[in-house]
Amino acid sequence: MFTQVQVDTFTHNIFTMMADRWFLITAGDETSFNTMTAAWGSVGVMWRKPVFNIVVRHTRHTYSYLEKGSSFTCSFFPEEYRKALSFCGKYSGRDYDKVAETSLVPVTLDAGTNHPVVTFEGATDVFCMDIASRTPILPDQFIDPAIGSFYKEKDYHTMYTGYIRSYFTAG
Ligand SMILES: Cc1cc2nc3c(=O)[nH]c(=O)nc-3n(C[C@H](O)[C@H](O)[C@H](O)COP(=O)(O)O)c2cc1C
Repeated sequence: MFTQVQVDTFTHNIFTMMADRWFLITAGDETSFNTMTAAWGSVGVMWRKPVFNIVVRHTRHTYSYLEKGSSFTCSFFPEEYRKALSFCGKYSGRDYDKVAETSLVPVTLDAGTNHPVVTFEGATDVFCMDIASRTPILPDQFIDPAIGSFYKEKDYHTMYTGYIRSYFTAG
C-alpha cells in the first residue's frame, strides 16, 4: 500500500500541501498513539540531515505523546479526507477515539525509526521522523510583535525537529 522512496525525490509544493491540504501528526506506536491535524511546519536540512519541523502547543494531547516518545509521522491525504482531518483538528484524543469517529484505518510502518510508527490508509505522502531536538517557542524571542497575537491564551508551541528517516508514497 505504501512504497518507500528517497526523500530527495520529493517535488511537490510543500507550501500548498501544508497550508491548504493540511496533514496529520501522529505520535506513539501501535499500542498507543494519538493523531492531530496541523497546517504549520517546515521541511529542510539541519545538522546535514533532511528534517521535518512541526509545532505543537503544550495543550494538545499529541504533545504528551511527543514528550514521552521519540518518533512521529506527518501524513498528507487527498481531499476526500477533509472531514476526518477537520475532526482530528477540532477534537482531542483525550475526549474522543479519533479512529472510531473518523473511520481512519491505522497502519504501522517499520520505517527505520526508533520504533515502528503509525500512519493511516489513504495517505498520499508519509514522512517518518525521529525527534532530534525540541525548541520551546517563547515570547521573549519574538522579533515581530504581531506573532504574540497567536498566543492570547499563552499556549505556546514547542517546535520538534525530526530527522526524516523514511518517506513513503501511496502505491
Ligand atoms: C487546519 C488546522 C491546523 C492546525 N495546526 C495546528 C498546529 O500546527 N499545531 C497545533 O498545536 N495545533 C494545530 N491545530 C489544532 C489541533 O489539531 C487541535 O487542537 C486538535 O484537536 C488537537 O488534538 P489532540 O488534543 O488530540 O492532540 C490545527 C487545527 C486545524 C483544524
